Amino acid sequence: MATTVGVLTGGGDCPGLNAVIRAATRRSLDRGHEVIGVREGWRGLVDGRFQELGRREISGILPRGGTIIGTTRTNPFNVEGGVEKVLQNFGRQGLGALVAIGGEDTLGVAARLYAEYDLPVVGVPKTIDNDLSATDYTFGFDTAVFIATEAIDRLHTTAESHNRVMVVEVMGRATGWIAVMSGIAGGADVILIPEHPITVEDACDQIRRRHDRGKDFSIVVVSEGYELTYSSGERRAVTQEAAVDQFGHVRFGGIGAELAREIEERTGYETRVTVLGHVQRGGSPTPHDRVLATRYGLKAADLVEEGKFGRMAALRGDEIVDVALAEAVAEQKRVPEGWYGVARAFFG
Ligand code: F6P
Repeated sequence: MATTVGVLTGGGDCPGLNAVIRAATRRSLDRGHEVIGVREGWRGLVDGRFQELGRREISGILPRGGTIIGTTRTNPFNVEGGVEKVLQNFGRQGLGALVAIGGEDTLGVAARLYAEYDLPVVGVPKTIDNDLSATDYTFGFDTAVFIATEAIDRLHTTAESHNRVMVVEVMGRATGWIAVMSGIAGGADVILIPEHPITVEDACDQIRRRHDRGKDFSIVVVSEGYELTYSSGERRAVTQEAAVDQFGHVRFGGIGAELAREIEERTGYETRVTVLGHVQRGGSPTPHDRVLATRYGLKAADLVEEGKFGRMAALRGDEIVDVALAEAVAEQKRVPEGWYGVARAFFG
């Protein structure tokens, strides 16, 4: 039976969002459904802001970064009367199903709305951080790793010319996936991540060892969520002041500069820092992310068609499968020791 399918993108933007929107919309339209974009994540359902998604709207958006329907970090469970407004607007707009494209927070809201209010919602796993469990990879991650790797390659040549230590701060929140993958791909000499925190002293020793071998430059990749860790056992998180979003997350940023200062003071080697920041989320998705996002979008439309609500499209090996939304947001996917071991084999 024909229905109206809502599509929303929530949380930080991410390369590949438009590819998902295009695929989910295209398949739903082909099946005779109507598709409506919910503006700016959950805020659009709280405030009743929608936009048409037809063939014209999705034309040409496959390679475009960002999201044509906007995004915010709005949490309806944290807004006065938010959930009631979501349910009201969902009904008023005549939606029969919702495709929520987001990370842990957006999908956490979707999981609750499904479990507690029976909202017919399916999920698509998005985030450059790759920290969602229940899927092997999220879309957007490959693009972020590609951008970070390219930056590391560029920093290599200038580090070598100046005999400098270059510290590169990458995103990832509480997980070090981007740091580990871009660090391995870019040949980093030290990689520091939240899950397996080596000490500042250890990092400096690795750099000194290189210099003793005649390598006068080093590339250090640090994940924004790494806490400065010392051999004394002291640990210190570096975050930006007073910034907590509606999901209670602190805003990271600044560890690179602190670490660079420590390295320069302790080793005496000239050190510089580069913070990649939102560059990692901007611009066109890689071919890999375009394909993955497209497969996720088609799967989401299929889940709607089959009435498999409360489920999320996921990648397992090379297959697109569906998993419970609740499972996907139950815990964060952390970098396992084995992956960090691959990185560590090239330290120093
Ligand atoms: O979750 C994606 C992400 O890019 C994190 O890596 C980063 O910590 C955060 O979002 C930045 O958020 P904002 O765009 O709100 O500054």
